[in-house]
Amino acid sequence: MRHGCDTVIVSRNQQRLNEAAEKLRTATGRRCLALVGDVRQPQTLISAVEEALRTFSRIDILINNAAGNFLCPASSLSFNAFKTVHEIDSMGTFNASKIVYEHYFRDHGGVIINISATLDYKGQVLQVHAGSAKAAIDAMTRHLAVEWGPSKVRVISLAPGPIVGTEGMRRLGGQVAEAAGLYNMIPLQRPGNKTEIAHGALFLASPLAAYVTGTTLVMDGGSWMTSPNYLQASLDVWSSQKKANQ
Ligand code: HXC
Repeated sequence: MRHGCDTVIVSRNQQRLNEAAEKLRTATGRRCLALVGDVRQPQTLISAVEEALRTFSRIDILINNAAGNFLCPASSLSFNAFKTVHEIDSMGTFNASKIVYEHYFRDHGGVIINISATLDYKGQVLQVHAGSAKAAIDAMTRHLAVEWGPSKVRVISLAPGPIVGTEGMRRLGGQVAEAAGLYNMIPLQRPGNKTEIAHGALFLASPLAAYVTGTTLVMDGGSWMTSPNYLQASLDVWSSQKKANQ
């Protein structure tokens, strides 16, 4: 928004949306439309896209970043838990992409940025649900880039690593990792921040990336290559989170 976009944000909770939209408007002076929707319910996204087009007349960029995640060993995951994360992450990405394509991008072109993750690169423990869902997103990025390239639609994945101040970090044991000195194992010796990820998205959406499609930009300080993947330590974090939630 600081670089000239008006924005539509879509999520399930109207109150949280309103607060976020107000913050964004105040910080940037741009318009922000806050619409209730659930990426698992295509009809709610169709309504949101129609409302966005009524308000702004065009859509240039779609960012798919809805995600559900928590630590859980595969054998303790319920079938519904696995399905829920796939429905939000991968099916949600497909639903939103197809709807925006059919309503606008097919005739006008556009950019789709899918937020994925590096979890599947090394088979991160306690993350089979999220890692496999994000891997599906990266695959979708390539499929849709090939199919929709002729309509001048670029499709790109952006895979963040550990980013401070996010719900993902809180849920996936970020504090424990910091206390254990694991950030020193990241090649760049620190976690990332939200502004750095925003800059990546800005680059991918901008004309500077006009010839980039069907690929994944990893923004993780190199961490997926060097960070540990300890089963027992992760199980300990999971157990303590479970106790705290009981
Ligand atoms: C095990 C869990 C669980 C948990 C939910 N479930 N939380 N199972 N451990 N901590 C199970 C439920 O028991 C249920 O299965 C099923 O998942 C659906 O849960 P519901 O609460 O009924 O569904 P819903 O309200 O739709 O929300 C579920 C959720 C939410 C979306 C998964 O809990 C959630 O994750 N919110 C967090 C959103 C978030 O933090 N997003 C950022 C992710 S960051 P049963 O069998 O009981 O019916 C990220 C980045 C990764 O992904 C990369 C980092 C490096």
